[in-house]
Amino acid sequence: MTLQDALWFDPTRIFVDGAWRQPSGGGTIDVENPSTGTVIGAIGRGTAEDVDAAVAAAQAAMDGAWGRMSATERGRIMSKMATLVLERAEKLAMIEALDVGKPLHQSRNDSIALARYLEFYGGAADKLMGTTIPYQDGFTVYTLREPHGVCGVIIPWNYPMQILGRAVGAALAAGNACVLKPAEDASLSSLAFAAIAEEAGLPAGALNVVTGFGHDVGSALSGHAGVDHVSFTGSVGTGERIQAAASRNVVPVTLELGGKSPHIVFDDCDLDKAMPTLVGACMQNAGQTCSAASRVLVQRGVYEEVKRRMAEIYRGLEAGPAIGSHALGPLVSRKQKQIVSSYIEIGRKELAIAAEGKIRDDAAAEGNFVAPVLFADVPPDHKLAQEEIFGPVQVLIPFEDEAEALKIANGTPYGLVAGVWTRDGGRQMRLARKLHVGQVFINNYGAGGGIELPFGGVGKSGHGREKGFEALYGFTRVKTVAASHG
Ligand code: NAI
Ligand code: MG
Repeated sequence: MTLQDALWFDPTRIFVDGAWRQPSGGGTIDVENPSTGTVIGAIGRGTAEDVDAAVAAAQAAMDGAWGRMSATERGRIMSKMATLVLERAEKLAMIEALDVGKPLHQSRNDSIALARYLEFYGGAADKLMGTTIPYQDGFTVYTLREPHGVCGVIIPWNYPMQILGRAVGAALAAGNACVLKPAEDASLSSLAFAAIAEEAGLPAGALNVVTGFGHDVGSALSGHAGVDHVSFTGSVGTGERIQAAASRNVVPVTLELGGKSPHIVFDDCDLDKAMPTLVGACMQNAGQTCSAASRVLVQRGVYEEVKRRMAEIYRGLEAGPAIGSHALGPLVSRKQKQIVSSYIEIGRKELAIAAEGKIRDDAAAEGNFVAPVLFADVPPDHKLAQEEIFGPVQVLIPFEDEAEALKIANGTPYGLVAGVWTRDGGRQMRLARKLHVGQVFINNYGAGGGIELPFGGVGKSGHGREKGFEALYGFTRVKTVAASHG
Protein backbone atom coordinates (compact mmCIF):
# COMPACT_ATOMS: atom_id res chain seq x y z
CA MET A 1 0.00 0.00 0.00
CA THR A 2 1.41 3.43 -0.94
CA LEU A 3 0.59 6.64 0.89
CA GLN A 4 -1.78 7.62 -1.92
CA ASP A 5 -3.65 4.30 -1.54
CA ALA A 6 -4.04 4.91 2.18
CA LEU A 7 -5.28 8.51 1.98
CA TRP A 8 -8.96 9.13 1.33
CA PHE A 9 -8.80 12.92 1.87
CA ASP A 10 -6.73 15.77 0.49
CA PRO A 11 -3.93 16.42 3.04
CA THR A 12 -3.10 19.86 1.62
CA ARG A 13 -6.39 21.15 3.02
CA ILE A 14 -7.14 22.07 6.60
CA PHE A 15 -10.40 21.26 8.38
CA VAL A 16 -12.21 24.33 9.67
CA ASP A 17 -15.91 24.73 10.55
CA GLY A 18 -16.75 21.31 9.15
CA ALA A 19 -15.24 22.06 5.73
CA TRP A 20 -11.95 21.30 3.96
CA ARG A 21 -10.27 24.48 2.79
CA GLN A 22 -6.93 25.63 1.47
CA PRO A 23 -4.76 27.39 4.03
CA SER A 24 -5.10 31.13 3.61
CA GLY A 25 -1.53 31.58 2.39
CA GLY A 26 -1.87 28.73 -0.11
CA GLY A 27 1.40 27.21 1.12
CA THR A 28 2.34 23.58 1.67
CA ILE A 29 4.92 21.64 3.69
CA ASP A 30 6.58 18.52 2.29
CA VAL A 31 5.80 15.15 3.85
CA GLU A 32 8.90 12.99 4.09
CA ASN A 33 9.10 9.28 4.62
CA PRO A 34 11.70 8.85 7.40
CA SER A 35 12.53 5.33 6.22
CA THR A 36 13.70 6.56 2.80
CA GLY A 37 14.29 10.30 3.13
CA THR A 38 12.06 10.90 0.10
CA VAL A 39 9.19 13.36 -0.25
CA ILE A 40 5.94 11.39 -0.53
CA GLY A 41 3.36 14.16 -0.33
CA ALA A 42 2.47 17.52 1.16
CA ILE A 43 0.29 19.05 3.85
CA GLY A 44 -1.14 22.55 4.02
CA ARG A 45 0.89 25.27 5.66
CA GLY A 46 -1.66 26.99 7.88
CA THR A 47 -1.35 30.58 9.06
CA ALA A 48 -2.39 32.74 12.00
CA GLU A 49 -5.39 33.79 9.91
CA ASP A 50 -6.46 30.12 9.65
CA VAL A 51 -6.16 29.85 13.43
CA ASP A 52 -8.49 32.88 13.76
CA ALA A 53 -11.03 31.14 11.53
CA ALA A 54 -10.71 27.84 13.42
CA VAL A 55 -11.11 29.50 16.83
CA ALA A 56 -14.15 31.45 15.57
CA ALA A 57 -15.66 28.19 14.26
CA ALA A 58 -15.04 26.48 17.61
CA GLN A 59 -16.66 29.39 19.47
CA ALA A 60 -19.66 29.23 17.14
CA ALA A 61 -19.92 25.47 17.75
CA MET A 62 -20.02 26.08 21.52
CA ASP A 63 -22.85 28.58 20.98
CA GLY A 64 -24.60 26.33 18.47
CA ALA A 65 -25.51 22.69 17.81
CA TRP A 66 -22.46 21.27 19.61
CA GLY A 67 -22.95 23.33 22.76
CA ARG A 68 -26.63 22.34 22.94
CA MET A 69 -26.06 18.65 22.29
CA SER A 70 -26.77 16.26 25.16
CA ALA A 71 -23.82 14.45 26.69
CA THR A 72 -25.36 11.15 25.61
CA GLU A 73 -25.47 12.29 21.99
CA ARG A 74 -21.86 13.50 22.16
CA GLY A 75 -20.88 10.08 23.44
CA ARG A 76 -22.85 8.37 20.67
CA ILE A 77 -21.00 10.33 17.98
CA MET A 78 -17.68 9.53 19.62
CA SER A 79 -18.51 5.86 19.67
CA LYS A 80 -19.30 6.10 15.93
CA MET A 81 -15.88 7.69 15.48
CA ALA A 82 -14.32 4.78 17.38
CA THR A 83 -16.01 2.30 15.05
CA LEU A 84 -14.76 4.18 11.99
CA VAL A 85 -11.22 4.28 13.43
CA LEU A 86 -11.33 0.50 13.89
CA GLU A 87 -12.64 0.03 10.34
CA ARG A 88 -9.78 2.18 9.02
CA ALA A 89 -7.19 0.88 11.50
CA GLU A 90 -4.99 -0.64 8.82
CA LYS A 91 -5.01 2.51 6.66
CA LEU A 92 -4.30 4.70 9.67
CA ALA A 93 -1.41 2.45 10.66
CA MET A 94 0.01 2.62 7.14
CA ILE A 95 -0.32 6.42 7.03
CA GLU A 96 1.51 6.72 10.35
CA ALA A 97 4.25 4.25 9.39
CA LEU A 98 4.99 6.17 6.19
CA ASP A 99 4.74 9.62 7.75
CA VAL A 100 6.46 9.06 11.10
CA GLY A 101 8.60 5.97 10.50
CA LYS A 102 6.83 4.00 13.18
CA PRO A 103 7.04 0.22 12.60
CA LEU A 104 3.66 -1.10 11.49
CA HIS A 105 3.17 -3.25 14.59
CA GLN A 106 3.43 -0.06 16.67
CA SER A 107 1.32 2.16 14.45
CA ARG A 108 -1.42 -0.53 14.46
CA ASN A 109 -1.30 -0.36 18.21
CA ASP A 110 -1.70 3.44 18.03
CA SER A 111 -4.83 3.10 15.84
CA ILE A 112 -6.37 0.74 18.36
CA ALA A 113 -5.44 3.08 21.22
CA LEU A 114 -7.15 5.97 19.40
CA ALA A 115 -10.31 3.89 19.10
CA ARG A 116 -10.06 2.96 22.80
CA TYR A 117 -9.81 6.64 23.81
CA LEU A 118 -12.94 7.42 21.80
CA GLU A 119 -14.77 4.45 23.34
CA PHE A 120 -13.67 5.29 26.86
CA TYR A 121 -14.38 9.02 26.72
CA GLY A 122 -17.48 8.58 24.57
CA GLY A 123 -18.85 6.24 27.25
CA ALA A 124 -17.84 8.65 30.02
CA ALA A 125 -19.45 11.74 28.44
CA ASP A 126 -22.77 11.34 30.27
CA LYS A 127 -21.23 10.12 33.52
CA LEU A 128 -19.42 13.32 34.37
CA MET A 129 -21.29 14.93 37.24
CA GLY A 130 -21.20 17.73 39.77
CA THR A 131 -21.96 17.29 43.45
CA THR A 132 -24.47 18.51 46.02
CA ILE A 133 -22.89 20.07 49.08
CA PRO A 134 -24.45 19.87 52.56
CA TYR A 135 -24.62 23.49 53.76
CA GLN A 136 -26.50 25.81 56.14
CA ASP A 137 -30.19 25.44 56.65
CA GLY A 138 -32.14 27.29 53.97
CA PHE A 139 -29.58 26.72 51.23
CA THR A 140 -29.23 24.22 48.44
CA VAL A 141 -25.73 24.14 47.05
CA TYR A 142 -24.47 22.17 44.10
CA THR A 143 -21.67 22.24 41.55
CA LEU A 144 -21.87 22.16 37.79
CA ARG A 145 -19.04 20.70 35.77
CA GLU A 146 -18.79 22.87 32.68
CA PRO A 147 -16.55 22.69 29.62
CA HIS A 148 -13.88 25.38 29.32
CA GLY A 149 -15.08 26.29 25.83
CA VAL A 150 -12.46 26.34 23.06
CA CYS A 151 -9.47 24.03 23.66
CA GLY A 152 -6.24 24.52 21.75
CA VAL A 153 -4.51 21.15 21.41
CA ILE A 154 -0.89 21.12 20.22
CA ILE A 155 0.59 17.66 19.78
CA PRO A 156 4.02 16.23 18.87
CA TRP A 157 5.06 13.68 16.28
CA ASN A 158 5.96 10.66 18.39
CA TYR A 159 2.50 9.21 19.11
CA PRO A 160 0.13 11.45 17.14
CA MET A 161 -2.91 9.17 17.27
CA GLN A 162 -2.54 8.31 20.95
CA ILE A 163 -1.91 11.88 22.03
CA LEU A 164 -4.73 13.39 19.98
CA GLY A 165 -6.98 10.59 21.28
CA ARG A 166 -6.27 11.36 24.90
CA ALA A 167 -6.56 15.14 24.51
CA VAL A 168 -9.28 15.64 21.90
CA GLY A 169 -11.19 12.57 23.17
CA ALA A 170 -11.44 13.92 26.71
CA ALA A 171 -12.04 17.50 25.57
CA LEU A 172 -14.96 16.58 23.28
CA ALA A 173 -16.52 14.22 25.82
CA ALA A 174 -16.51 17.06 28.36
CA GLY A 175 -18.31 19.26 25.82
CA ASN A 176 -15.48 21.50 24.60
CA ALA A 177 -14.73 22.42 20.99
CA CYS A 178 -11.16 21.84 19.79
CA VAL A 179 -8.61 23.39 17.50
CA LEU A 180 -5.97 20.73 16.92
CA LYS A 181 -2.48 21.61 15.67
CA PRO A 182 -0.49 18.48 14.84
CA ALA A 183 3.30 18.45 14.46
CA GLU A 184 4.55 19.48 11.02
CA ASP A 185 6.39 16.11 10.78
CA ALA A 186 3.33 14.05 11.52
CA SER A 187 0.04 15.65 10.49
CA LEU A 188 -1.58 13.05 8.26
CA SER A 189 -3.24 10.98 10.98
CA SER A 190 -4.78 14.13 12.52
CA LEU A 191 -6.29 15.00 9.14
CA ALA A 192 -7.54 11.41 8.82
CA PHE A 193 -9.10 11.83 12.26
CA ALA A 194 -10.89 14.99 11.07
CA ALA A 195 -12.23 13.09 8.07
CA ILE A 196 -13.52 10.39 10.43
CA ALA A 197 -15.14 12.98 12.71
CA GLU A 198 -16.88 14.50 9.70
CA GLU A 199 -18.13 11.10 8.56
CA ALA A 200 -19.40 10.28 12.07
CA GLY A 201 -21.50 13.46 12.06
CA LEU A 202 -19.58 15.57 14.57
CA PRO A 203 -21.16 19.05 14.28
CA ALA A 204 -19.21 21.68 12.33
CA GLY A 205 -16.62 23.52 14.41
CA ALA A 206 -16.48 21.00 17.27
CA LEU A 207 -13.16 19.79 15.86
CA ASN A 208 -10.92 21.91 13.64
CA VAL A 209 -7.49 20.80 12.42
CA VAL A 210 -4.97 23.41 11.28
CA THR A 211 -1.66 22.00 10.05
CA GLY A 212 1.49 24.10 9.89
CA PHE A 213 4.63 25.07 11.73
CA GLY A 214 4.86 25.59 15.48
CA HIS A 215 6.23 29.09 15.16
CA ASP A 216 3.23 30.26 13.19
CA VAL A 217 0.16 28.06 13.77
CA GLY A 218 1.24 26.74 17.20
CA SER A 219 2.23 30.09 18.53
CA ALA A 220 -0.91 31.82 17.18
CA LEU A 221 -3.09 29.14 18.78
CA SER A 222 -1.43 29.12 22.21
CA GLY A 223 -1.67 32.91 22.54
CA HIS A 224 -5.11 33.32 20.96
CA ALA A 225 -7.51 35.42 23.02
CA GLY A 226 -10.43 33.18 21.97
CA VAL A 227 -8.86 30.01 23.38
CA ASP A 228 -10.01 28.95 26.87
CA HIS A 229 -7.62 26.07 27.59
CA VAL A 230 -4.36 24.91 26.02
CA SER A 231 -3.07 21.37 26.11
CA PHE A 232 0.43 20.60 24.90
CA THR A 233 2.73 17.61 24.66
CA GLY A 234 6.31 18.13 23.51
CA SER A 235 9.61 19.68 24.55
CA VAL A 236 10.27 21.70 27.69
CA GLY A 237 11.35 24.80 25.75
CA THR A 238 8.21 24.86 23.63
CA GLY A 239 6.10 24.11 26.72
CA GLU A 240 7.54 27.17 28.43
CA ARG A 241 6.74 29.34 25.41
CA ILE A 242 3.20 27.98 25.25
CA GLN A 243 2.57 28.55 28.96
CA ALA A 244 3.90 32.11 28.65
CA ALA A 245 1.68 32.78 25.62
CA ALA A 246 -1.41 31.34 27.38
CA SER A 247 -0.66 33.33 30.52
CA ARG A 248 -1.33 36.53 28.58
CA ASN A 249 -4.97 35.39 28.43
CA VAL A 250 -4.84 33.83 31.91
CA VAL A 251 -6.13 30.47 30.70
CA PRO A 252 -5.29 27.04 32.12
CA VAL A 253 -2.62 24.94 30.46
CA THR A 254 -1.87 21.24 30.58
CA LEU A 255 1.75 20.41 29.78
CA GLU A 256 3.30 16.98 29.21
CA LEU A 257 6.98 17.57 28.54
CA GLY A 258 8.74 14.23 28.56
CA GLY A 259 11.36 13.03 30.99
CA LYS A 260 14.42 11.07 31.94
CA SER A 261 12.58 8.25 33.58
CA PRO A 262 14.38 5.69 35.76
CA HIS A 263 13.99 1.96 35.90
CA ILE A 264 15.23 0.91 39.35
CA VAL A 265 16.39 -2.68 39.65
CA PHE A 266 17.07 -4.17 43.09
CA ASP A 267 19.09 -7.32 43.86
CA ASP A 268 16.00 -9.22 45.02
CA CYS A 269 13.87 -8.76 41.89
CA ASP A 270 12.68 -11.35 39.39
CA LEU A 271 15.35 -10.61 36.79
CA ASP A 272 13.94 -12.99 34.18
CA LYS A 273 10.71 -11.01 34.24
CA ALA A 274 12.48 -7.64 34.27
CA MET A 275 15.01 -8.22 31.49
CA PRO A 276 12.94 -7.73 28.31
CA THR A 277 11.15 -4.74 29.84
CA LEU A 278 14.37 -2.99 30.85
CA VAL A 279 15.27 -2.70 27.18
CA GLY A 280 11.79 -2.58 25.63
CA ALA A 281 10.61 0.32 27.80
CA CYS A 282 13.13 2.54 26.05
CA MET A 283 13.47 0.97 22.60
CA GLN A 284 9.75 1.21 21.90
CA ASN A 285 9.30 3.76 19.11
CA ALA A 286 13.11 3.93 18.84
CA GLY A 287 13.32 5.78 22.16
CA GLN A 288 11.05 8.61 20.99
CA THR A 289 8.66 8.22 23.90
CA CYS A 290 7.99 10.77 26.62
CA SER A 291 7.93 8.02 29.23
CA ALA A 292 10.96 6.12 27.85
CA ALA A 293 12.89 4.39 30.65
CA SER A 294 16.14 5.90 29.49
CA ARG A 295 18.00 5.49 32.81
CA VAL A 296 18.47 2.00 34.23
CA LEU A 297 19.57 2.14 37.87
CA VAL A 298 20.87 -1.23 39.04
CA GLN A 299 21.91 -2.39 42.51
CA ARG A 300 25.54 -3.55 42.69
CA GLY A 301 24.70 -7.20 43.48
CA VAL A 302 23.06 -7.75 40.06
CA TYR A 303 24.70 -4.92 38.12
CA GLU A 304 27.16 -7.05 36.13
CA GLU A 305 24.51 -9.63 35.32
CA VAL A 306 21.99 -6.98 34.18
CA LYS A 307 24.67 -5.30 32.06
CA ARG A 308 25.61 -8.60 30.41
CA ARG A 309 22.00 -9.61 29.75
CA MET A 310 20.96 -6.19 28.45
CA ALA A 311 24.03 -6.16 26.19
CA GLU A 312 22.96 -9.50 24.75
CA ILE A 313 19.51 -8.11 23.93
CA TYR A 314 21.06 -4.97 22.41
CA ARG A 315 23.22 -6.99 20.03
CA GLY A 316 20.02 -8.50 18.60
CA LEU A 317 18.23 -5.15 18.11
CA GLU A 318 17.83 -3.98 14.53
CA ALA A 319 16.63 -0.72 13.05
CA GLY A 320 14.95 -1.08 9.66
CA PRO A 321 12.22 0.31 7.40
CA ALA A 322 8.90 1.01 9.13
CA ILE A 323 7.10 -1.23 6.65
CA GLY A 324 8.66 -4.34 8.15
CA SER A 325 8.74 -6.13 11.47
CA HIS A 326 11.95 -4.87 13.05
CA ALA A 327 12.27 -3.78 16.64
CA LEU A 328 13.05 -0.21 15.63
CA GLY A 329 12.13 2.06 12.76
CA PRO A 330 13.96 5.23 11.75
CA LEU A 331 13.76 8.41 13.82
CA VAL A 332 11.09 10.86 12.73
CA SER A 333 13.32 13.42 11.00
CA ARG A 334 16.86 14.33 10.05
CA LYS A 335 16.77 16.91 12.82
CA GLN A 336 15.94 14.25 15.41
CA LYS A 337 18.64 11.93 14.03
CA GLN A 338 21.13 14.74 14.35
CA ILE A 339 20.10 15.55 17.96
CA VAL A 340 20.37 11.89 19.00
CA SER A 341 23.62 11.28 17.11
CA SER A 342 25.27 14.23 18.81
CA TYR A 343 24.46 12.72 22.24
CA ILE A 344 25.87 9.36 21.10
CA GLU A 345 29.07 11.10 19.95
CA ILE A 346 29.51 12.67 23.39
CA GLY A 347 28.91 9.27 24.97
CA ARG A 348 31.49 7.60 22.71
CA LYS A 349 34.11 10.09 23.85
CA GLU A 350 33.29 10.17 27.55
CA LEU A 351 31.58 6.89 28.48
CA ALA A 352 31.91 3.11 28.23
CA ILE A 353 29.73 1.33 25.67
CA ALA A 354 28.20 -1.95 26.93
CA ALA A 355 26.68 -2.89 23.56
CA GLU A 356 25.25 -1.60 20.32
CA GLY A 357 22.49 -2.77 18.02
CA LYS A 358 22.52 -2.63 14.22
CA ILE A 359 21.07 -0.83 11.27
CA ARG A 360 19.82 -3.42 8.79
CA ASP A 361 21.39 -3.72 5.36
CA ASP A 362 18.03 -3.08 3.69
CA ALA A 363 17.68 0.31 5.47
CA ALA A 364 18.18 3.20 3.03
CA ALA A 365 21.24 5.34 3.69
CA GLU A 366 19.03 8.44 3.36
CA GLY A 367 16.66 7.15 6.08
CA ASN A 368 16.93 8.53 9.62
CA PHE A 369 18.22 5.34 11.19
CA VAL A 370 20.20 5.26 14.40
CA ALA A 371 21.64 2.05 15.89
CA PRO A 372 20.74 1.57 19.58
CA VAL A 373 23.51 2.17 22.13
CA LEU A 374 23.76 1.07 25.77
CA PHE A 375 26.24 3.05 27.90
CA ALA A 376 27.51 1.52 31.15
CA ASP A 377 28.80 2.85 34.49
CA VAL A 378 27.43 6.30 33.75
CA PRO A 379 27.83 8.95 36.48
CA PRO A 380 24.34 10.15 37.50
CA ASP A 381 25.24 13.78 36.80
CA HIS A 382 26.58 13.12 33.27
CA LYS A 383 24.81 14.98 30.44
CA LEU A 384 23.57 11.65 29.02
CA ALA A 385 22.10 10.72 32.41
CA GLN A 386 20.41 14.11 32.86
CA GLU A 387 19.01 15.22 29.49
CA GLU A 388 16.20 13.74 27.45
CA ILE A 389 17.79 12.21 24.34
CA PHE A 390 14.62 10.94 22.67
CA GLY A 391 16.36 8.19 20.76
CA PRO A 392 17.48 4.55 21.20
CA VAL A 393 20.03 5.27 23.93
CA GLN A 394 20.05 4.04 27.52
CA VAL A 395 22.44 4.64 30.39
CA LEU A 396 23.22 2.06 33.09
CA ILE A 397 23.91 3.53 36.53
CA PRO A 398 24.99 1.36 39.50
CA PHE A 399 23.80 2.06 43.07
CA GLU A 400 24.45 0.63 46.53
CA ASP A 401 21.20 0.87 48.47
CA GLU A 402 17.63 2.19 48.48
CA ALA A 403 18.61 5.66 49.69
CA GLU A 404 21.12 6.09 46.90
CA ALA A 405 18.69 4.74 44.30
CA LEU A 406 16.09 7.28 45.39
CA LYS A 407 18.56 10.13 45.31
CA ILE A 408 19.69 9.27 41.78
CA ALA A 409 16.14 8.60 40.59
CA ASN A 410 14.94 11.98 41.85
CA GLY A 411 18.12 13.73 40.72
CA THR A 412 17.02 15.20 37.39
CA PRO A 413 14.81 18.21 36.64
CA TYR A 414 12.18 15.81 35.25
CA GLY A 415 9.60 13.60 36.94
CA LEU A 416 7.35 11.62 34.63
CA VAL A 417 7.53 7.87 35.28
CA ALA A 418 9.53 5.45 37.43
CA GLY A 419 9.71 1.66 37.32
CA VAL A 420 10.70 -0.27 40.46
CA TRP A 421 11.74 -3.91 40.38
CA THR A 422 11.83 -5.53 43.81
CA ARG A 423 10.04 -8.31 45.70
CA ASP A 424 10.20 -6.31 48.95
CA GLY A 425 6.69 -5.03 49.61
CA GLY A 426 7.76 -2.37 52.08
CA ARG A 427 10.31 -0.99 49.65
CA GLN A 428 7.68 -0.92 46.90
CA MET A 429 5.41 1.21 49.07
CA ARG A 430 8.20 3.51 50.32
CA LEU A 431 9.48 4.23 46.85
CA ALA A 432 6.00 4.67 45.41
CA ARG A 433 5.57 7.54 47.88
CA LYS A 434 9.02 9.08 47.65
CA LEU A 435 9.64 9.09 43.91
CA HIS A 436 9.02 12.53 42.42
CA VAL A 437 7.05 11.39 39.40
CA GLY A 438 3.51 11.27 38.11
CA GLN A 439 3.32 7.47 37.96
CA VAL A 440 5.16 4.55 39.51
CA PHE A 441 5.13 1.07 38.02
CA ILE A 442 6.00 -1.80 40.34
CA ASN A 443 7.46 -4.90 38.72
CA ASN A 444 6.35 -3.68 35.30
CA TYR A 445 6.76 -0.55 33.23
CA GLY A 446 3.84 1.28 31.66
CA ALA A 447 1.18 -1.35 32.44
CA GLY A 448 0.59 -1.78 28.72
CA GLY A 449 -0.15 1.91 28.23
CA GLY A 450 -3.70 1.63 29.65
CA ILE A 451 -5.79 4.56 28.49
CA GLU A 452 -7.69 4.33 31.81
CA LEU A 453 -4.64 5.35 33.85
CA PRO A 454 -4.08 9.04 34.71
CA PHE A 455 -0.80 10.27 33.28
CA GLY A 456 1.33 13.38 33.69
CA GLY A 457 4.42 14.77 35.30
CA VAL A 458 5.99 16.83 38.04
CA GLY A 459 8.90 19.27 37.73
CA LYS A 460 9.97 19.93 34.15
CA SER A 461 7.89 16.97 32.98
CA GLY A 462 4.91 19.32 33.19
CA HIS A 463 1.63 19.59 35.05
CA GLY A 464 -1.96 18.50 34.73
CA ARG A 465 -3.16 14.95 34.18
CA GLU A 466 -4.31 13.31 30.99
CA LYS A 467 -5.84 9.90 30.35
CA GLY A 468 -8.36 8.11 32.50
CA PHE A 469 -11.23 9.91 34.18
CA GLU A 470 -8.82 12.45 35.61
CA ALA A 471 -8.46 14.12 32.20
CA LEU A 472 -12.16 14.90 32.15
CA TYR A 473 -11.71 16.99 35.29
CA GLY A 474 -8.89 18.88 33.56
CA PHE A 475 -11.10 19.65 30.58
CA THR A 476 -13.90 21.02 32.79
CA ARG A 477 -14.27 23.71 35.39
CA VAL A 478 -16.49 23.66 38.42
CA LYS A 479 -19.20 26.25 38.99
CA THR A 480 -20.75 26.46 42.46
CA VAL A 481 -24.45 27.33 42.67
CA ALA A 482 -25.78 28.34 46.08
CA ALA A 483 -29.54 28.92 46.29
CA SER A 484 -31.04 30.56 49.36
CA HIS A 485 -34.65 29.47 49.71
CA GLY A 486 -35.45 29.97 53.36
P1 NAI B 1 8.47 20.67 19.98
O1 NAI B 1 8.07 20.66 21.41
O2 NAI B 1 9.05 21.94 19.46
O3 NAI B 1 7.21 20.29 19.06
C1 NAI B 1 5.99 19.77 19.54
C2 NAI B 1 4.83 20.54 18.94
O4 NAI B 1 4.91 21.92 19.32
C3 NAI B 1 4.74 20.54 17.42
O5 NAI B 1 3.39 20.47 17.03
C4 NAI B 1 5.31 21.90 17.06
O6 NAI B 1 4.88 22.37 15.82
C5 NAI B 1 4.77 22.75 18.18
N1 NAI B 1 5.49 24.01 18.41
C6 NAI B 1 6.81 24.29 18.18
N2 NAI B 1 7.10 25.54 18.52
C7 NAI B 1 5.96 26.11 18.99
C8 NAI B 1 5.62 27.39 19.51
N3 NAI B 1 6.51 28.36 19.62
N4 NAI B 1 4.35 27.60 19.92
C9 NAI B 1 3.44 26.63 19.84
N5 NAI B 1 3.69 25.40 19.33
C10 NAI B 1 4.94 25.13 18.92
O7 NAI B 1 9.47 19.44 19.80
P2 NAI B 1 10.47 19.05 18.59
O8 NAI B 1 11.29 20.22 18.20
O9 NAI B 1 9.72 18.38 17.53
O10 NAI B 1 11.40 17.96 19.34
C11 NAI B 1 12.53 18.35 20.10
C12 NAI B 1 12.63 17.56 21.39
O11 NAI B 1 11.44 17.69 22.15
C13 NAI B 1 12.80 16.07 21.24
O12 NAI B 1 14.14 15.72 21.03
C14 NAI B 1 12.30 15.57 22.58
O13 NAI B 1 13.32 15.63 23.54
C15 NAI B 1 11.21 16.55 22.94
N6 NAI B 1 9.86 16.01 22.65
C16 NAI B 1 9.12 15.48 23.66
C17 NAI B 1 7.90 14.90 23.40
C18 NAI B 1 7.06 14.28 24.47
O14 NAI B 1 6.34 13.34 24.21
N7 NAI B 1 7.06 14.82 25.67
C19 NAI B 1 7.37 14.81 22.03
C20 NAI B 1 8.20 15.45 21.03
C21 NAI B 1 9.40 16.01 21.35
MG1 MG C 1 6.86 12.78 8.15
